[in-house]
Amino acid sequence: MRLLFVCLGNICRSPTAEGVMRHLVREHELEHAVEIDSAGTGSWHVGDPPDARAAGVARERGIELEGRARQFDTADFEAFDLILAMDRVNYDELHALAPHDDARARVRLLREYDRDAVAADELEVPDPYYGGPEGFDEVLDLVERACAGLLDEVRERAV
Ligand code: 4NP
Repeated sequence: MRLLFVCLGNICRSPTAEGVMRHLVREHELEHAVEIDSAGTGSWHVGDPPDARAAGVARERGIELEGRARQFDTADFEAFDLILAMDRVNYDELHALAPHDDARARVRLLREYDRDAVAADELEVPDPYYGGPEGFDEVLDLVERACAGLLDEVRERAV
């Protein structure tokens, strides 16, 4: 199963989700069954490493953020089975780029995999870029919960 996490800049939220999911997949010895990447809908940060604030709070939880920012490409609709948007702006942008219904059907909000978030109708991972350090901790909390639910989905599909 091929998973692509998408936010705006690909330096805060989606590299965080990528790092959290890699960590979970490794913990459950599912590396053979899952491919993980991340991208941004915007191009401003292409080539940049993950934001130091995002990397710092992740490291405190034993998670290393890796890679360099890249921009989402329409070829990603074929290369990935699930495209997980962090917020509705990213989701709408991906929908607008999707060339056909099958591509559109691959796009989800990451927090759809968090049952409590669905029940509360709070389906976005808020952009922490212009806020204080607590925003980065909140992103990690939300992403960890959603990725745990996503892991359940992966395990169902992997069997
Ligand atoms: P991300 O955060 O989408 O979670 O990577 C942002 C990073 C950069 C900007 C906005 C959001 N920016 O406007 O440069």
